[in-house]
Amino acid sequence: MTDGYLWFEGIPFSVLGFSSEVLKEACAQFVIKDEDTVLVTYPKSGTNWMIEILCLIHSHGDTKWIRSVPIWERSPWIETDVGYKRLNEREGPRLMSSHLPFHLFPKSLFTSKAKVIYIMRNPKDVLVSGYYHQTMTKLCKQPESLEQYFQWFMQGNVSYGSWFEHIRGWLSMRDRENVLLLSYEELQKDPRSTIERICQFLGKKLSPEELDSVLKNSSFQVMKLNKMSNYEMVPETFITKPFLITRKGICGDWKNHLTVAQAEAFDKVYQEKMLGFPKGLFPWE
Ligand code: A3P
Repeated sequence: MTDGYLWFEGIPFSVLGFSSEVLKEACAQFVIKDEDTVLVTYPKSGTNWMIEILCLIHSHGDTKWIRSVPIWERSPWIETDVGYKRLNEREGPRLMSSHLPFHLFPKSLFTSKAKVIYIMRNPKDVLVSGYYHQTMTKLCKQPESLEQYFQWFMQGNVSYGSWFEHIRGWLSMRDRENVLLLSYEELQKDPRSTIERICQFLGKKLSPEELDSVLKNSSFQVMKLNKMSNYEMVPETFITKPFLITRKGICGDWKNHLTVAQAEAFDKVYQEKMLGFPKGLFPWE
């Protein structure tokens, strides 16, 4: 451990809940099976929102599962100590999450027919959300200010490394039949159609009433009150102050936080690093 992080293959990970041994084994040996559903995101892109949606789709809108089992148990993280163990013990079809960058992801994915959902989000909102997350949890070193966190984020010196590298890596998979690329922004704009697309991708047929229940119970207001999903059950050893994953849940919160100079500096780096992607791919542009 150096610098408040656990470094693995050049990528910084949290010091709590991760170990080099598990990371090494998970990345090299974890077996993804054809019937698995794999949710991949860069942290703070709406991962837990999507887990809630996927669990509700799986249960045809029934809320029993989301109200009785903590969200991190329903869709364990492949790369964490606890998640890795849990997934290895679990029979399929499994739901699992990961923030791993593309180049570290278990190679078994690429020969499996597992369904992969990648959620992206405006990186400026990811940055602001990540800043709050990092100040409220003991998972990584604490930033002294948003300005300091801004610098770390731009350098990729944050948990799971560079946003730019993460998205570039995973977007190389976007044309595969078993990959669904979605954005936090389209989920906000039109949750019903986006959830319908997810159902279609997963081959799940839901009645209009079941779909209504998925929509209602995965909404920000309802999820914020569900203690199995809002992270209020996270052990105190992990947090610095009372913490909910459902912080603000809006698009464009960066405008309330970044200075004009920071936004311009961000855009300059963004233009350089995101060169070559087709117009219209990113809803925040
Ligand atoms: P903010 O911090 O901008 O509010 P992740 O799950 O990847 O850590 O992402 C967390 C972000 O998703 C937080 O963003 C959180 O508020 C938002 N989020 C969580 N549940 C949500 C929901 N049901 N609807 C909209 N946003 C949600």
